[in-house]
Parts: sequence; C-alpha cells; structure tokens
Amino acid sequence: MSYNKITPPSLKIAKRSEMPPFMAMDVMRLAAELDAQGQDIVHLEVGQPSSSAPKPVMDALVESMGQQKSHGYAVALGIPELRQRIAEHYKQWYQIDIDAERVAVTVGSSTGFAISFMSAFDVGDRIAIPNPGYPAYRNLMLGMGLEPVILPAGPNEGWVPQLQQMEEWDRLPDGLMIASPHNPTGVVIPDDELKKICNWCDKHGVRLISDEIYHGLSYTGRCETALKYTDNAIVINSLSKYFSMTGWRIGWMILPEQLITPAEKLAQNLYISAPTPNQIAAVKAFDCSDELDAHVERYKENRQILLSGLPAELLGQAAPCDGAFYIYADISKLSNDSISFAKELLDQTGVASTPGVDFDPLDGHRYLRLSFAGSTKTMHEAVKRINQFVVNYKKDAA
Ligand SMILES: Cc1ncc(COP(=O)(O)O)c(C=O)c1O
Repeated sequence: MSYNKITPPSLKIAKRSEMPPFMAMDVMRLAAELDAQGQDIVHLEVGQPSSSAPKPVMDALVESMGQQKSHGYAVALGIPELRQRIAEHYKQWYQIDIDAERVAVTVGSSTGFAISFMSAFDVGDRIAIPNPGYPAYRNLMLGMGLEPVILPAGPNEGWVPQLQQMEEWDRLPDGLMIASPHNPTGVVIPDDELKKICNWCDKHGVRLISDEIYHGLSYTGRCETALKYTDNAIVINSLSKYFSMTGWRIGWMILPEQLITPAEKLAQNLYISAPTPNQIAAVKAFDCSDELDAHVERYKENRQILLSGLPAELLGQAAPCDGAFYIYADISKLSNDSISFAKELLDQTGVASTPGVDFDPLDGHRYLRLSFAGSTKTMHEAVKRINQFVVNYKKDAA
C-alpha cells in the first residue's frame, strides 16, 4: 500500500498544543542517561515515592486476577465499593460526611483537573493559579482556552496566595486553584487561612479547586480539607503520593452536587472509566495506614537530614517545607540560572534536582526543587555532595 508522505503546508496544528515545554526534562533526561551508564546518581528530582503500593493492595490485585473476572469497563464515576470507601475516608480523616454520590474516581488526579476545568469553566474564563505552582494547572488551562492568571505565592506573600491581591485586580477571577501541601514548595496553607479562602470564594462566586494530593504528607500537623468549610469547592486527590501508587493511575474528585452529572458525561467521553482491576484493589489502600505512615516517618527523617545538613546558601530563604516531600531552595546567593546550576550540580556531583523554571515562569531561575521522597541513605549522600559542590562553586566564583 502506498500513501502520500508529503505533509501539505496548509495542514493545521492546533494553537492549544503550543503549551510551554517541560524545561526541567533536560536535567531529568540527563540524570536518567547517567544512571543507565552506571554512574552513581543521587536522585532528588523525583516527585514520587520509591516505595511500592501497600501489600494488601497488591494482594487484592492478584486475587482479583485469579478470579478471572472480565475486568471490563466500570461505570464512569467509579465502582460503587471504591466511591463508598473514599467517602468513608473523609469521615475517618476529617470527620465530615460526604455522600458517595459526590465521589468521582478518575485516572490519577491529572484527569480530575481536566474534568474540573471543563465542567466548571467556559473558554475565556480566568482562573487564578498560585505562582510558583504545579505546571500542569497552567498548561492544561492554556490548552483548554482558559486564562490562567498568576497569583503570587512567593516569599513576599509568606508563600501563601493572598486574597487581597485578587481584590485589587480589575475583575475577580472565575476560579481559584490552590494546593496544600504545595508542589514545589511543600508549604501548607494554615487552617484559618484555608477557611478564609473558602468563605471568600463562596462570597464572591469564585469556583474553588483544591488540590489535596499531598494530604497525609505533613510534618507539623494534619491538613484540613476545603470540604470542611464549603460544599462548592471541587476537591481533587489521588492515590499517587501518600498511598505510594503513582503508576496505578487512580485519583478522585469530590464534586459539588451540580457538577456530578457534567463530570460524569465528561468522564464517559474522555476515558470511559478508570482501570477496573486497579479500582478493585484500590479499595484496600485506605486500610493500610501502618505501612503508609512508616513511609511518612522516613520522609520526616529525610527532611530533617536535609534541613540540618544542607548549606545555608540554599536554605536561607527556602520556603517552609511543612508538607509534601520537597524543599524549594533559593539559590540566588550562588546563581541566577537554575537550569545551568542544576546541570553543573548533576555533572560534578551526580546529584539530580529540578530547576524552578517550570514551576515559576517569573522567578524560577532562582530556585531549585529538591525531593526527599528517596531513601535516608540517599539524603546523607546528597548533603555531603551538595556541601562540597557549594564550597567549590563559591571558590570558582571568587
Ligand atoms: C500538586 C500535584 N497535583 C497533581 C499531580 C498529579 O498526580 P497524579 O495524576 O499522579 O494523581 C502531581 C504530580 O506530581 C502534583 O505534584
């Protein structure tokens, strides 16, 4: 069979695909290549647990396979057992009653963003997003014809988005995105602040989307859910972080009543259902706190090793990393180019990190994200290598 291999010059490529590239990928790719060559790489660039899914979850998957079920499509909002178990999780963790009808199981939290943006907003709507922040919020919004509006959440704002800033804008946004604990900073929005944000959004008719994917990973007390203060927020979460199940691609949303049907229709058309065997096994994930809390203890220890061992030049103005598994180090005393700095650090010491540029288009060149999701041994090694690197870096600069 022959076909025309010449691309006609008039064929369109959608403008919506022109989202910014993931610049930190360069450093990550380089780290992976060096790893493959057998070099001793210390991975502080990874945003995921190195531990496996909890054992009862894996056992449940194997058992379900053994039963030779058809494992066909599930209903779009998820299997009833999982939706019910997620609703119970809200009772156990936050002491609030959530009707299982409001739970939508998604393919990771990432599709939860897509569904929430498409169900709550129209093309041209403006959504305030914290800066620095997780790049997918901005990129997905741009791809959907929404307008992400930068809401500063840096050192000048105490690393928490300030409502007053939005009040000073020409017009209020249609939506507000928050994430606590936050990626890349690890900052936790204090409970009284979260309450104010929820009340403010309700008062002004601003749709709140609360990304709570790092709940369970906090080191200065438990995090509250936005659902404690409002039923109008879309809450997004997943099994990827605390539950140590990134590749299983199971997330969920807690939806306001009016968005259940729109979200269901979108899910049916986008992915039909989240993977059925994984949903069956995922029911067990909520009964594994002993195993999962042991990981949190390790992160806690890792965090302490970095906080007490990293050079003051990196930690002096770092964000308070009270949650998630990241330190957002301010490297501006050493460099104004986080990509080159990360490449040099990797090249000279084998420590892989993530430059801040993807998280913050304005000031990210001054920041480096260091993940402490790895092993405790890795953290000790990282501290040793980074300290030596900084000594040499300063010597070279002098
Ligand atoms: C803040 C935040 N939200 C969402 C995600 C996406 O997670 P997933 O799609 O695996 O649930 C990530 C991944 O790193 C993240 O950091």
